[in-house]
Amino acid sequence: MSAGDLVWVELDAGAPGHNLAELRRAAGGSPLVCAVIKSNAYGHGLLETARLLPDADWFGVNSLDEGLALRAAGEKRPILILGHVPLSRLREAVSGDLRMTTYNFEMLEALKTCVSGASSSPVRLHLKVETGTGRQGIPPRDVRRFAEAVRSCPGVELEGLSTHFANIEDTLNHSYAESQLDLFNGAIGDLGDLRPPVVHTACTAAAILFPETSFDMIRAGIGIYGLWPSRETFLSARMSGRPVPDLRPVLSWKTRLVQIKDLPEGSFVGYGCSFRTMRPTRIGVLPVGYYDGYDRALGNAAHVLIRGRRAPVVGRVCMNLCMVDVTDLPDPVLEEEVVLLGRSGDECVSAETMAAWAGTINYEIVTRINPSLPRRIAGGDGEGRPS
Ligand SMILES: Cc1ncc(COP(=O)(O)O)c(C=O)c1O
Repeated sequence: MSAGDLVWVELDAGAPGHNLAELRRAAGGSPLVCAVIKSNAYGHGLLETARLLPDADWFGVNSLDEGLALRAAGEKRPILILGHVPLSRLREAVSGDLRMTTYNFEMLEALKTCVSGASSSPVRLHLKVETGTGRQGIPPRDVRRFAEAVRSCPGVELEGLSTHFANIEDTLNHSYAESQLDLFNGAIGDLGDLRPPVVHTACTAAAILFPETSFDMIRAGIGIYGLWPSRETFLSARMSGRPVPDLRPVLSWKTRLVQIKDLPEGSFVGYGCSFRTMRPTRIGVLPVGYYDGYDRALGNAAHVLIRGRRAPVVGRVCMNLCMVDVTDLPDPVLEEEVVLLGRSGDECVSAETMAAWAGTINYEIVTRINPSLPRRIAGGDGEGRPS
């Protein structure tokens, strides 16, 4: 048994494609879908997830290195870098045929030195408009000037125009998102004949709730992984009267019992002696800790699933280990499977449940699963693709 057999992530081969189709339908049926697989595909595994999405039209990544990793693996589809590309590395993005998000004139200047007029394919940029998120983007009033500057830059093309909503997941009141959309539409109006062909604004919540934000392409992340952006998004979707997408979680996270031991009543468990047994207690030790992304806040708060039964996490979560109470489990077996996240029998620990225990959101729970843990495909054609 290798180290990877002790803690691993399992991906349901059919779920990403199913979710993508559901989101495309919710978004009005026809937009391109850019599957946002940044940050190791929200913890699901960059290359594994890309292979499970044969119907994705584009991919969205955060960094140049993620884009290059996809190209090195043979990915031919358009890839848009959503994050910042260091000016000193623009040439790598150009030679990798990676689309870049742009939001400053300095990038245009720097590109002039690395674009060869002889190159057959242009450098394709997506201009981000600041409509109220207060992060990347140029103000709407500068959009036309930027588009003109790109036009005068040989070998560079303005392919896309985008923005990102600040307050669409966390509320049932979408007036702020509507005001962002108004500003964005104003910028499109100012561009007139310089409107680029790929306009995109919609994250998962926008695509589900407001098809008018879909434009030419949606940028869907969390929904691709079968997770709802928030409870408010789910409620808003239910209240909208429109069809509610059926999202199927993609990821399970599993480990094994590596020690089973009996402790007398009154024994302490773990650092800080934060848990004390109140009865003779059978403890199961799991080889997973906060290094793996199992949040320290889960100590004395979470439960895991073993053979469809709940076993509470007792004591603090350590760096590489944690302990569970298996007293009520009939005959626990050394190295038997333990579900940290996902289904076992009739029980389920969802990313939302774990997020509530840890005081965070489902996005963070899955994204922080250590990238070094193996991602295995369950189902599919045996080659890591959906069947
Ligand atoms: C620029 C951008 N677009 C799209 C997304 C996808 O958002 P979601 O995961 O809510 O679909 C993100 C996610 O953070 C993002 O930063």
